[in-house]
Amino acid sequence: MESIWTETVNIPPRQALTEDRRVDAAVIGAGMAGILTAYFLSLQGMEVIVLEADRIGSGQTKNTTAKITSQHGMIYENLIKTFGWEKARLYGAGNQAAIDKYQEIIEKEAIFCGFKRLPAYLYSTKENVSSNKDKLIRETKAASQLGLPARFCEKVSLPFETVGAVCFDNQAQFHPLKFMEGLAEKLNIYENTRVLGVKGHQIRTEGGRINARHIVFAVHYPMLIVPGFYFLRLHQDRSYVVAYEGAAPLQGMYYSADQEGLSYRSYGNLLLAGGGSHRTGKNEQGGRYEEIRRRAEREFPGLRERTCWSAQDCVTHDGLPLIGKYSVLRPYWHVITGFGKWGMTFSMLGAMILSDTIAGRENPYARLFSPQRWNFFPSLKKFMADFGESAAGLLWLRHFWGLPGESELLKGQGGIVRKGLRRYGCYKGEDGTLHRISLRCPHMGCELSWNPDEKSWDCPCHGSRFDYRGNLIDDPARRDIQS
Ligand code: FES
Repeated sequence: MESIWTETVNIPPRQALTEDRRVDAAVIGAGMAGILTAYFLSLQGMEVIVLEADRIGSGQTKNTTAKITSQHGMIYENLIKTFGWEKARLYGAGNQAAIDKYQEIIEKEAIFCGFKRLPAYLYSTKENVSSNKDKLIRETKAASQLGLPARFCEKVSLPFETVGAVCFDNQAQFHPLKFMEGLAEKLNIYENTRVLGVKGHQIRTEGGRINARHIVFAVHYPMLIVPGFYFLRLHQDRSYVVAYEGAAPLQGMYYSADQEGLSYRSYGNLLLAGGGSHRTGKNEQGGRYEEIRRRAEREFPGLRERTCWSAQDCVTHDGLPLIGKYSVLRPYWHVITGFGKWGMTFSMLGAMILSDTIAGRENPYARLFSPQRWNFFPSLKKFMADFGESAAGLLWLRHFWGLPGESELLKGQGGIVRKGLRRYGCYKGEDGTLHRISLRCPHMGCELSWNPDEKSWDCPCHGSRFDYRGNLIDDPARRDIQS
């Protein structure tokens, strides 16, 4: 399904690259992070081009809920404990600076994208009242001690009961693709230009070669395995959004501190309800949209569903994005990834950091988010958990020796069947046709699992996804699966 952003804007197409070029900087990826980085670099007088394998904003940017906020859930108390006061302060201040920068650009470039300053609330519902309220109060205290605009609210204007909320004033929301349309007009972008390889200062595409003094990888999931080894530092999570008609516009953006709670924001007369987060490849039973529908329709009676869609986010072990030099071996390569669920704010902050770094200016947030940081002990547990998931997925010998009983597994429309000694992914189409693909992920060989909500084959190791015919949907894999 299309997101509400895709339905309501049509960014004019750009040509594919058909010649060799020599430029100051090449940005790979025309999502929010890539467009913003290219915009800042052009303002510095650099000759910049953006290379996009598909269309502008066609990756994860179109699937966001487009909240621009430093309110990232129940994090600040934990950030202080894990990284100390100064790093926690920089995290909050950097995200606040990103909100202000959006407003500055939107006013300067006169972009009509529904940008609106609103409070962001972190709420919790009645279940487990005392501990939930205590946690919210502690989080409020931590955030306000870090200089963030946080206050505790006993009551919020939601039509169901809560135990209160942490309120961050003066945050923002907007229409992400309208914003990108406004900025893209000013940039030199090539669409349908897939990057085939990068070596030194040279980028090889289907239509020509680019020689660039600086190369920025703004591609959601960095596609090169060496150098950088980003596949060891990132996994991907999926989440789901349902858009409804029939609710009065909200006067804020809402994010739940509860495991099963939903996030809410309005867009015009629509209510966007988000939730159902899980690691990519861990949704064999499905039912995520149904969970959101059940809860949203109970919390906002009288809703009528308009559309639904899902998103995929890169997550790091320590919860901080990776923004800076791709590797010490390639100081002229730069990377921007690992935003978790906060892609809009971190795209802006990342673009600010990279444009300063490339210009040789100090940036106060650069060290905190540098890919060369080693927050080893805080992230060790997460690293081990991720490594365990990947190692389990890498047991692709299961392709040859399926467990007893698995040969008949074809639940609903999709599942695993065994033929001889090999296991395959099968999908039964509406007309009864059986589509069979190999279960081995072409990225690094993990075994794919069926996602009934999206009718896709998803990889639990690093999050590549394929449709039922084996066509690639999400990276880091670079090619389709042969049946
Ligand atoms: Fe890396 Fe599948 S093995 S995404």
